[in-house]
Formats: sequence, structure tokens, C-alpha cells
Amino acid sequence: MTTHNDKTLSMESRLTLSDKHTMPQLGLGTWRSEPEKVQNIVRDAILHCGYRLIDAAWVYQNEDEVGNGIHEAIEQSQGKIKREDIFVTTKLWNQHHTTEDVEWALRDSLKKLRLDYVDLFLIHWPVAFKNMTENLWSQNEDGKTRYFAENVTLVDTWKAMEKLVDLKLTRSIGVSNFSPSEIDEILKIARIKPSVNQIELHPYFNQHELREYCAHHNITITSYCPLSNLKRENERAEDVSALYNAVIQEIAQSKHKTTAQIIIRWHLQHGLSVIPKTVTQERLIENSGVFDFALSDHEMLEIDHLTQTNRRRFVNPPFRPADKPIFDD
Ligand SMILES: NC(=O)c1ccc[n+]([C@@H]2O[C@H](COP(=O)([O-])OP(=O)(O)OC[C@H]3O[C@@H](n4cnc5c(N)ncnc54)[C@H](OP(=O)(O)O)[C@@H]3O)[C@@H](O)[C@H]2O)c1
Repeated sequence: MTTHNDKTLSMESRLTLSDKHTMPQLGLGTWRSEPEKVQNIVRDAILHCGYRLIDAAWVYQNEDEVGNGIHEAIEQSQGKIKREDIFVTTKLWNQHHTTEDVEWALRDSLKKLRLDYVDLFLIHWPVAFKNMTENLWSQNEDGKTRYFAENVTLVDTWKAMEKLVDLKLTRSIGVSNFSPSEIDEILKIARIKPSVNQIELHPYFNQHELREYCAHHNITITSYCPLSNLKRENERAEDVSALYNAVIQEIAQSKHKTTAQIIIRWHLQHGLSVIPKTVTQERLIENSGVFDFALSDHEMLEIDHLTQTNRRRFVNPPFRPADKPIFDD
């Protein structure tokens, strides 16, 4: 496992993708960021805190406001920050996997974001729902049946994604929540290989095997749910999130840092890109305060080992037929 524990990491650190474009390592997530809050936080992230990677998605239903935040930052920077300085990711929703819908979906995201291109367009999930327009989950009214676009394969969708690069609507293309066998399907036919796999990854789910697979195929990983801070109903964050883990707390105390900062630093030292989400000003600053200290090899290993004792996947939606969860584990 590669670790980067020297002091060269910075807010400007970027990873080189397989297509030679580069991607900032630290970014801001926007899932569940309320439309009325996300505009200001995106603006402040770019304008005041040095964030250069914004992670969006069509299905988050806040791309208009994310776009407003990006444009406000560019305008208020008075020429210091340009569009090309910012790396914008967005994602293809499950309803839009057919050849025609793939292009429609990116054009719709671009319209909302008010951009000519995004830097990275990802297939959000390896599953194709029937396009039922406003009904994002493609379920019947009582929520008991989900409708799938049965004749659409991942290969069809990938070929449509490649065309978007030709059309210059996106610079890079990639996947999200894909397993090795799903990526293999694409690699067999790919003219442009997936540059990124965005996956759940945190100290309680370190994805060791999938990381090895992606490294072998030169696929960069973005860690989502990086703070493992997604409790279910009736759960307390203190009981489920690595933010409250005793090992991480001890490391944090010894370095006068917060546990969130220790976890974000752990992602960065593993050479991952990482997109913690917040709509809170103080946390925006806190989450970027991760470049004035380093974790030792021993501390990295201590955090790596937490998956053995506290293993937990937080995001596993019922997206397979018969409402089966998307992942088997
Ligand atoms: N590809 C996919 O399928 C997928 C799935 C999930 C997520 N994502 C992407 O990944 C991003 C991050 O994942 P996530 O939003 O699930 O989880 P996360 O970033 O691990 O956690 C976000 C939660 O932690 C809180 N938080 C942020 N900074 C904190 C800090 N320093 N101390 C304590 N709490 C803090 C936030 O609250 P406040 O906002 O109230 O501050 C929010 O409740 C998403 O926003 C999205 O862009 C992608």
C-alpha cells in the first residue's frame, strides 16, 4: 500500500488520472447539502479555503445551487480563480443509462451547473432503472416494485460515456460503486478507460482489495462517506462513526487535531482523493486544515487495522431486482 507521509501534501496536491488529466486530492461533497446552504458553502470553499474539487450529482437535485456557488467564487475572485482552476465532478443517474439519455443527462447537468463541460462524469451506480422522469427511484406508487431498463448493458452505457469525451462535454469519465467484475466488463471494450472509481471508503471500510485492483488498472479512487458519518435511524453517531473511535481520538489528541482531520489525512496519505461533505463554515475550514502535520507509518497502520475490528459499510441501497442490496457483503 502506498503512503505519502512526507510534508509535500498540500491543498494544491493533485492526482494524475490514466487519461493524463489531473484531479485535486481534497474536495467538497454535496450529497444532502440543502439547496439553500450549498451555494454559499461551495463559494466559500473555492474562494476562501482553497478547495478546487467539487463533487456533484444530478440526483442530488442541487446542481443549480452548486453551479451558482462556483460562478460566485469565480466572479468574486476578480480574475484570480478561473473555471479551469476548478475540477467539477457530476454523475449519471440510474435512470439515464440508455445511449440517448446519457447525453441528455450530462447536458441537463451542464445546464443546471451553467458550465460548458465538467472535468469528470461518473456512472453513479452499476444499475439501469427505467426512465420514469420525475420518479427518480423508478418505483410504483406503493414503492413495492422497481422498474429496470432491462436491455441496457454497462457496455452500452460506457460507449455513450466515451462519446461525451469526443463531444468535449466532459474531460474524463469514470464509474462509481463498481466492483472489479463490473469494471472488467468495461475494460474489455473500452476505447477510453475509466479514470476513477468513486467508492465508499473510510477507516471502518478500507476497501483494501478494491484498492489493489484499481491500482493495478491505474484507476484513481475517490473516497466517499470518508468520515463514516452516516448513521441510520435509532443509531447514535458516537456508536457507529470512526469520528468517535478511541484509537483515532488518541492520535488526534497527540497532534492537537480533530478526529475528522486525522481521518482526512489518512485518506490523503493513502494517495486517495477525498470529498468530505459539510454545509458548516467551521467544518469547511477544519476539513482543509490537514496539511500542517503527518501521520507516521505506525499511525497509518493503526487506522488501517480498524476495518478488522469495526468493519461496516454504510451505503448499500436496495437497487437490485427484488429490492436486494447492491453489494453482497
Ligand atoms: N458516489 C456515490 O454513490 C456517493 C455516495 C455517498 C456520497 N457521495 C459523495 O461523497 C460526499 C461525502 O460523503 P458523505 O456526505 O456521505 O459523508 P461524509 O463526508 O463522510 O460525512 C458528512 C457528514 O459529516 C458531517 N461533517 C463534516 N465535517 C465534519 C467534521 N469536521 N466533524 C464532524 N462532522 C462533520 C457533515 O455535517 P454538516 O454538513 O452538517 O457539517 C455531514 O453530516 C457526498 O457529499 C457526495 O458528494 C457519493
